[in-house]
Amino acid sequence: MYLSVILLLCACCTVWSASVSRPNIIFILADDYGFHDVGYHNSEIKTPNLDKLAGAGVKLENYYVQPICSPTRSQLMSGRYQIHTGLQHGIIWASQPFGLPLGSATIADRIKAAGYSTYAVGKWHLGFFKNAYLPNNRGFNSFYGYLTGSEDYYTHHRCDNHQTEYHLCGTDLRDNLKPVLNESGHYSTQLFTEKAVDVIKHHDKSKPFFLYLAYQSTHAPLQVPAKYLSQYSHIQDTQRRTYAGMTTCMDEGIGNVTAALTATGQLDNTLIVFSTDNGGQVHEGANNWPLRGMKATLWEGGSRAVGFVYGKMLKHKGTVNNELIHVTDWFPTLVGVAGGTTHGTKPLDGFDQWTTISEGGKSPRKEILHNIDPLTHPMGQKLYNNTFDTRIRAAIRVGNWKLITGNPGDGSWTPPPHLNKEVIVEKEDAAKNLWLFDIAHDPTEHVDLSSTNQGVVKNLLARLAHYQSTAVPPVYPPADPKSDPKLHGGVWGPWQ
Ligand SMILES: *[C@@H]1O[C@H](CO)[C@@H](O)[C@H](O)[C@H]1NC(C)=O
Ligand SMILES: *[C@@H]1O[C@H](CO)[C@@H](O)[C@H](O)[C@H]1NC(C)=O
Repeated sequence: MYLSVILLLCACCTVWSASVSRPNIIFILADDYGFHDVGYHNSEIKTPNLDKLAGAGVKLENYYVQPICSPTRSQLMSGRYQIHTGLQHGIIWASQPFGLPLGSATIADRIKAAGYSTYAVGKWHLGFFKNAYLPNNRGFNSFYGYLTGSEDYYTHHRCDNHQTEYHLCGTDLRDNLKPVLNESGHYSTQLFTEKAVDVIKHHDKSKPFFLYLAYQSTHAPLQVPAKYLSQYSHIQDTQRRTYAGMTTCMDEGIGNVTAALTATGQLDNTLIVFSTDNGGQVHEGANNWPLRGMKATLWEGGSRAVGFVYGKMLKHKGTVNNELIHVTDWFPTLVGVAGGTTHGTKPLDGFDQWTTISEGGKSPRKEILHNIDPLTHPMGQKLYNNTFDTRIRAAIRVGNWKLITGNPGDGSWTPPPHLNKEVIVEKEDAAKNLWLFDIAHDPTEHVDLSSTNQGVVKNLLARLAHYQSTAVPPVYPPADPKSDPKLHGGVWGPWQ
């Protein structure tokens, strides 16, 4: 019965060979994990398990996410750009009453509708002010993790002071809808790995499963059990040393997940995707060398991502893929792999990249709207008439060209500490608000071509103006004092 349904749904797209059942899908999302920080990017940090999976799978080397947490997660879950969900500006702070709009179906909704069991473990960060925004109500059969953006790795405690008149603190860990108060002292990378291994061992065997494993690592605060530091005693920089240990612990966790798949005979029928959620935070031990910029900036260091896909069902294994792929693409790609349908969703900004990834085909994607954020303070003077306002913080990629406008954030090049090189700070006019780069030839964004290629600049500004015309207004409400965990048993949770 299943097979006929699959063949029917897939008549015009990917058809799994009739002898193979639909694969389990594990999506592993690391947090603030830098471009330089994986072994196969020649890092000084050891990631043997990631290297092994990536080496046997497909490394995505022209792969983009968004520069910060909630935006990337919103695009992964909805397949839609931030301009289409109102999440253009910043992250979702714990005390803010908003989230990924309920009108957007999630990737989990659609994979579940295709007959999968769906599990979320780890970080959510897509809003929780009302019950309807919790992962259990966004397509996941179960959830074990935390709702806010970051917290203490051991106590699972979180304070939100982003609006200075409030100092709101509470515990943030949940087993489905119930707060968990007995895991203080349990390091989250190990805790979430145990929960993921539980899913792999005990899921309902009559259905394939989708596991979304969103590690807290390697986000600040820099904390790790001492045993992971011993192999890094040679790293002088203490932030970098701790970060290296955190990365190696996460890598070990992923090794444990893979080992559980092997032990239960499921590895050959599981597709594993690994991705970071944004570039590394260089002020908290991470590194994106040789890329320019960092987390929270529109430079490549903010959004060019570590990512790969592993699985026996890939047709071309052990390859490096240089096709343009974006985090919004996972929605149609993985719903397609699951034999589900994207019909009836809000219009998607992602493309089905299965053939691109599995067979090395050409990417259907020619552009990426990195973002348009009208709430960031405008920068400089408007430079062109009758088109997109260059004072607005925005960036777009069209083919090999990338255009940045407004204030993109810190554009320094930060080498990893062991190279003993100075951080290079570009000394540009503080009011500069326009850059054009040829990313294929200048991936490190050293040569601004905007003054010598004004025709290209105008074309890309016109594309930004087009995208802006399709945008919904940004949503970014003030902190709500009713979110205070003191009013809710000391835990962060729905308050409306
Ligand atoms: C916390 O409680 C849960 C549910 O009863 C239990 O499964 C878990 O083992 C407990 N954790 C610890 C550290 O005792
Ligand atoms: C991996 O599994 C080993 C053996 O059970 C355990 O000691 C270790 O803590 C696990 N690592 C992580 C990161 O969960």
